Amino acid sequence: MQAENGNKVKTLVFRVSEENFDSVLERVSAIIKHGGTVAFPTETVYGLGADGLNPEAVLKIFEAKKRPPGNPLSLLVHSREDVERVSRNIPQNAFRLMDTFWPGPLTIVLEKNDIVPDITSGGLKSIGVRMPDHRVPLELIKKAGTPLAAPSANLSGKPSPSLASHVISDLTGRIDAILDGGEASIGLESTVIDMTAKPPIVLRPGAVSLEDLESVIGKVRSGYKNSEAGNEPDLSEKKAGQKYGHYIPDTKVVLVEGEGKLVSEKLVKLLESYRSEGQKVGLLLSDETSKETATFLALQNLDLYECLLLGPREEPEVAARKLFEGLRKLDRKGLDVIVADGSFSRFGLGEALINRLREASSIKIVA
Ligand code: TXA
Ligand code: MG
Repeated sequence: MQAENGNKVKTLVFRVSEENFDSVLERVSAIIKHGGTVAFPTETVYGLGADGLNPEAVLKIFEAKKRPPGNPLSLLVHSREDVERVSRNIPQNAFRLMDTFWPGPLTIVLEKNDIVPDITSGGLKSIGVRMPDHRVPLELIKKAGTPLAAPSANLSGKPSPSLASHVISDLTGRIDAILDGGEASIGLESTVIDMTAKPPIVLRPGAVSLEDLESVIGKVRSGYKNSEAGNEPDLSEKKAGQKYGHYIPDTKVVLVEGEGKLVSEKLVKLLESYRSEGQKVGLLLSDETSKETATFLALQNLDLYECLLLGPREEPEVAARKLFEGLRKLDRKGLDVIVADGSFSRFGLGEALINRLREASSIKIVA
């Protein structure tokens, strides 16, 4: 039945509404119970779910996403009881995090229980768990009666899906069903914190910030690429899941970081050199950078440019919602290079935003 064998899976697509919620959820929970795969919206990004306790079902996720084996999946849960079913020796601080941030964009890595198959945890003795703040997955977990293994519903290496159309383009013919629930309200994946480490390590930044976490459980370490090249923390023993590339469009992405005006000046120089080479350039800009470079762009041959706006520098949450759609859109245009603006505020979602921009880019320039 796998696409690899040449036999395409028939993918059902449902637009979830108030009227059909119960009947659609009934139908797709039956797919999960029978070991199938269903993509659905969450508040962070779309997830691709299967019964997380059924190794054959979980294998289908790896095959559909072309995800490298050994990259651990996390589990979406519906209740505290679910957490205690799949994990053990849960530290008090992990319960405090659940009380404060769940349901919500925080994945908590805990010691795994034997009930969770090795394929789900990528062979690790730990497992990431999250209670999503979205009624579609919550109802699906409840109706299917099992925690869902649920990575982001994109082909491995592509930007995560913030819209059902992203899932449709990546996974049609590879999974059993797709639930369209509109745009993901956050647009970036959850924060991941490893609570088996002392002090706990943040493996991926997201909508729950380091400061938010520290205000509840005290000192945490950051273990992701949040620092400029050559200045990365060495957490070699804890970098599970970090060793695989993510968020990489096919088109080369160049990121220009720094203070607003400096970024704009650097960008103009960069665009001049691309123009002299006749390169077609995609631009992902803050509103301010777009204004500051408008005079320059107006003088150019506009055929060479595709420009998308990500919102104000001081509102990274707006850019977060638009980022993956922007990358996918520009990636389809057959451009030579995408230049991304890294002048957004680092507050709130800003840290996660810059992290995803860095992951997506192969060249980083500091203005
Ligand atoms: O917001 C989200 O977390 C979305 C939605 C669908 O829930 N899911 C998501 O899943 O982004 P995924 O698999 O694309 O990312 C989960 C991250 C990966 O970086 C994975 O390596 C890490 O969490 N992870 C999962 N289990 C882990 C473990 N036991 N130890 C370390 N890292 C783990
Ligand atoms: Mg992912």
